[in-house]
Amino acid sequence: MEKLEAALAKAREARKASAISVGDEITRHEQERAHGGVRQGDWLSLPELTISPELAQQQRLAALTGGKDATPYDMLRSRAIRLMKEAGWKRLAVTSPNAACGKTTVAMNLAVSLARQQDTKVLLIDVDLRRPALNKLIGHHPKRSLHEVLAGACPLEDATVRFGTNLLIATNNSPVRQPAELLHSTRTREILAEIEERWKPDVTIFDMSPMLASDDNVGFMGNVDCALLVAAAESTTLANIDACEKELAQLTNVLGVVLNKCRYPDESAGYGYEAYD
Ligand SMILES: Nc1ncnc2c1ncn2[C@@H]1O[C@H](COP(=O)(O)OP(=O)(O)OP(=O)(O)O)[C@@H](O)[C@H]1O
Ligand SMILES: [Mg+2]
Repeated sequence: MEKLEAALAKAREARKASAISVGDEITRHEQERAHGGVRQGDWLSLPELTISPELAQQQRLAALTGGKDATPYDMLRSRAIRLMKEAGWKRLAVTSPNAACGKTTVAMNLAVSLARQQDTKVLLIDVDLRRPALNKLIGHHPKRSLHEVLAGACPLEDATVRFGTNLLIATNNSPVRQPAELLHSTRTREILAEIEERWKPDVTIFDMSPMLASDDNVGFMGNVDCALLVAAAESTTLANIDACEKELAQLTNVLGVVLNKCRYPDESAGYGYEAYD
């Protein structure tokens, strides 16, 4: 009986200790943030990601594999960067009406295409916290998740890899069940500002969740300067595009609609990218 009581007491202590350690970690990291000032981030110190040609092919990373399939992304990049520079915008959200329109694929290809420009440093962040998928697309599982970075539990570098010299990619290992509170919080807003101050990207791209699935994006759009709406030809309805574009326009600046998954692209018209300039 005494042994049983001792074991229970030990288990209670262990539980208490582990509960403390999670909270402590956040507090410790926050204290460091509050007292440490802003240390400039060294891009080259981050672990480097390599993507095999097979993975690039499998994940439709046309901006990497090159050829004529890369052209639409280069055109999208050029138009997006021109509009963003003119307006002084640095943060771009990529969203869509429904799931599986190709947001993550477009966000990664656009990031790669932008980062090929020597003077453009790009930070790509997975904020689709219900169904994070950027880690699978690039074949990398970070030490910590981006949602932990937004919660103040660890620095950006723990969830981030570097691709080449100009692109950082921050991903998640696990989903968050109800991410709206985290995404809409003041702390997230502050942490994004700190990340920008420390790492100084020219463009930050946010890979978002679909608009019609939840209200996750509604509060978060206040953190971005502009957004691209990705629609899937043959599955997104015009009514959905119209409704989402109107809603998006209330939340941020709509940079354009990308018509993805076109089986019959009209190459003369720039392959399904409709810019609003
Ligand atoms: N242009 C395209 N043509 C054909 N398939 C595509 C195209 N773009 C993306 N896909 C495929 O569609 C699927 C969904 O793509 P992706 O994950 O990028 O969409 P998503 O909008 O981010 O999805 P989710 O809403 O789940 O986050 C993937 O299998 C991807 O390879
Ligand atoms: Mg996605």
